[in-house]
Amino acid sequence: THQAHFQNVPDTDYADLAQRQPALQAIATVQQQLGKTYWPLINGEYQQTEAQVDSVNPSNPIEVIGRIGLMSQAQADKAIAAAKVAFPAWQRTPAQQRANILRKAADLLNQRRAELAAWIVLEVGKPLREADGEVSEAIDFCRYYADEMERLEPGHSYDLAGETNRYHYRPRGIVLVISPWNFPLAIPTGMAVAALVAGNCTLLKPAEVSSVIIAKLTEILVEAGVPKGVFQYVPAKGSTVGAYMVKHPDIHMITFTGSQEVGCRIYADAAILQPGQRHLKQVVAEMGGKNAIIIDESADLDQAVQGVVQSAFGYSGQKCSACSRVIVVEPIYEGFVARLVEATRSLNVGDAAHPSTQVGPVIDATARDRIKSYIEQGKSEAQVALEMPTPDTGYFVGPVVFSEVAPTAAIAQEEIFGPVLSVIRAKNFAEALAIANGTQFALTGGLYSRTPSHIQQAQAEFEVGNLYINRGITGAIVARQPFGGFKLSGVGSKAGGPDYLLQFLEPYAITENI
Ligand code: NAD
Ligand code: ALA
Repeated sequence: THQAHFQNVPDTDYADLAQRQPALQAIATVQQQLGKTYWPLINGEYQQTEAQVDSVNPSNPIEVIGRIGLMSQAQADKAIAAAKVAFPAWQRTPAQQRANILRKAADLLNQRRAELAAWIVLEVGKPLREADGEVSEAIDFCRYYADEMERLEPGHSYDLAGETNRYHYRPRGIVLVISPWNFPLAIPTGMAVAALVAGNCTLLKPAEVSSVIIAKLTEILVEAGVPKGVFQYVPAKGSTVGAYMVKHPDIHMITFTGSQEVGCRIYADAAILQPGQRHLKQVVAEMGGKNAIIIDESADLDQAVQGVVQSAFGYSGQKCSACSRVIVVEPIYEGFVARLVEATRSLNVGDAAHPSTQVGPVIDATARDRIKSYIEQGKSEAQVALEMPTPDTGYFVGPVVFSEVAPTAAIAQEEIFGPVLSVIRAKNFAEALAIANGTQFALTGGLYSRTPSHIQQAQAEFEVGNLYINRGITGAIVARQPFGGFKLSGVGSKAGGPDYLLQFLEPYAITENI
């Protein structure tokens, strides 16, 4: 019944001048605020650090968005100790009060929507509409998990004559949230507020390149009323201080979203019992994908081309949900590729802050170089159907479409995380489905078809966490499309879904003989 109350917040309507104007104004306002230094929030105080790093605008890397103070190991110890102290009172705080703090945070996020979207555009090079959608998702996570906690809070009872049986949930303790840069606001907000509303003390370690936006989220959570020590913003280098916190004996749970390599490392590190540790750690790890869309001979090709282009090149292909393989059945293969190439060619590539940009930069020079080396490898494995030019300032890679890609080619198996799409030819629908399932990942997938038997077979056999039929495969909406995968795409339940909060809770049963 709570789901019936929950409503997704609407995105900004940029067609409406009254909404567009403040959105564009916010970019100019935020541009006046660049270059400040942001410090970690430890036990309610911003603390200076020895190490710092610049977070730059990927569209124009000489522009410093902010300077990030990176915590030392000793500061990590202080934060974890503060969380330990804060835990008992937060655990006792009524669930409804915790839920209301999330609702207040949602309202503040909504009030600062235009400004937050502007920070996202500038810090990670995400075009405005998609940045705005991310603010909506962050708001939805707050309101949805608030409702969910209130749904779970009463627990269950199973009473008999002479015996009461009660089933309740308690928080786990201290949760370390480790987030990626590609959804710099929505994903960390979702993971952190889920941990908080369940009654856990929460440390949030964002990706280094997207930490300014989390400094803004921190201001909002503090203003919403999260007590000191309960939420702490712990920017740090992932491979050193991040890994140190994962291994710390006082951490109960790690909630990670990011690459498969790091996710597997965290899963292994967390499994080792450390001296003094009296529990096993829970790990939720949402990792990468190599997501496919299948196009069969009955597909509406106008719809299919548009859905594939959006899913493959939105945010320059840097979504775990992005389409990186399109599998097309023989009879329509040539026609589809020709139309796909023309539609891709019409995309505007450029500065993310420019209103007409559809494809912005990639995140940094390392990503650009990795993607470029995959493009070189692709040239030896497949045919180049389209290679678009790359703007010279900024970390840009023009969209690339490869055709006649073998299902086993590296560009058809490995997550590239850039604007590179592989088109694979299949003899028939059964072969297309086998190719789609032929990777180590199982995150999103799509099918364009008007053949009921194919749609049914895909529902039963397509190995993905989120299957989309006759639409694009990105942009899952909280509560409507709970999001997450399996196989090597991740472990844990779906974000924005009815089982998610349970992972942050420890169930217990009490029987009383009366
Ligand atoms: P990443 O794995 O490089 O980094 C993620 C986070 O882990 C960062 O905060 C980083 O500092 C930290 N980290 C790095 N090494 C660590 C270590 N040894 N111990 C602890 N923490 C460490 O990923 P990224 O480049 O930020 O994000 C892109 C990846 O995220 C892609 O693979 C993408 O598919 C995936 N992703 C998955 C989902 C999903 O829901 N399944 C959503 C978004 C992104
Ligand atoms: N939840 C994000 C999407 O669906 C990753 O695109």
